[in-house]
Amino acid sequence: SRNYKVASIPADGFGPEVVSAAIEVVQKLAEISKTFTIEFQHIPWGTAYYKQHGKYVEDNVLEVLRRYNAILFGSVGATDVPDHISLWGLLLAIRGPLQLYANVRPVRTFPGTLSRLRDTKSGAPDIDWVLVRENTEGEYSGHGGRSHRGQKWEVATEVAIFTYVGIERIMRFAFSVAQARPKKLLTVVTKSNSMRNGMVLWDGVALEVSRDFPDVKWDKMLVDAMTVRMVNSPGSLDTIVGTNLHMDILSDLAAALAGSLGIALSSNLDPTRKNPSLFEPVHGSAFDITGKGVANPVATIWSTAEMLGWLGEGEAKDTLMQAIENVCNAGVLTADLGGTANTKEVTQAICEELEKLGTRK
Ligand code: NAD
Ligand code: IPM
Ligand code: MN
Repeated sequence: SRNYKVASIPADGFGPEVVSAAIEVVQKLAEISKTFTIEFQHIPWGTAYYKQHGKYVEDNVLEVLRRYNAILFGSVGATDVPDHISLWGLLLAIRGPLQLYANVRPVRTFPGTLSRLRDTKSGAPDIDWVLVRENTEGEYSGHGGRSHRGQKWEVATEVAIFTYVGIERIMRFAFSVAQARPKKLLTVVTKSNSMRNGMVLWDGVALEVSRDFPDVKWDKMLVDAMTVRMVNSPGSLDTIVGTNLHMDILSDLAAALAGSLGIALSSNLDPTRKNPSLFEPVHGSAFDITGKGVANPVATIWSTAEMLGWLGEGEAKDTLMQAIENVCNAGVLTADLGGTANTKEVTQAICEELEKLGTRK
């Protein structure tokens, strides 16, 4: 059987709670399917590691990660370290340097759960979107600085970098994602009315790349108007592509509209497959519920389903998604989705569902 080695970085807050739930589910799936085995190796990077070593990761972070087929990440961020230190110390020290340039964030309403939009009088349809986030450039390029610190004339810059190469590769990726979906529909999000350089380049590259995908219907939206369209006509959207910062914001909105941040996952892909890709929930460390055992594990479990799909285990991915859907449909939901189950109960229910699906084959 095929054998995979995955780096597990649960990191901070309730990251360890959701990552261990996801690993439990994947191991159950591997045991039932018998077609693959998967070994998760724990990497202790995070805020506790930082307090001990003065840094969030080892110096040879990329070399260490390249030993694995994939990376499963929990969440980083702690109440006693400034967020920009922890995030640039760990997660952003991986995404850019490993060139995981395609951040794919599927969002959909699971059966049995409530979308915020489902019962509006327009009879809005359930959400089924794929958000494609450029993951290395824009405001996340790391360029910027502060001068005259503490003075009244202090100046701070946060430079948004956009390159032709960076835009072209994410645009081509997004058009292919759209092309592979039934609706073949892509919306390109920018802000090219007020932002006259990078955003105008985005529009131009979109037009150029679109010529190679004549069967994909595509349109452009300004990001402010896009928030309104997501709420008022969710059924008019399918695949969506945009900049690093715009899609960071829109993906939280999308998750909340579809039901909860607790189901939203993020695949940080290197489409060239030179480097291992990283899979993680979209949410952060959730200080308010850490240690209470009530976290929704679905986002992280869905992350592992996408990871299996990326590794070539399409059948295992489909089985796992079916199990998640059945459990949601049966009403085994955490509080964020309006239910009363805790993390353990949802995890257990998904494992039991996998057993049922396995014996039915
Ligand atoms: P958050 O995503 O941690 O939490 C927002 C809200 O959603 C909270 O009320 C939380 O309880 C709820 N929530 C999130 N995930 C949930 C789940 N699985 N089940 C149930 N409820 C869930 O966002 P925040 O409060 O803005 O950030 C907290 C910390 O996490 C900060 O340090 C932030 O920088 C960091 N952060 C990290 C990541 C990451 O590691 N990828 C992502 C976002 C934020
Ligand atoms: C996300 C998060 C990250 C981001 C943070 C943790 C750096 O909000 O993955 O959506 O801003 O990209
Ligand atoms: Mn975010």
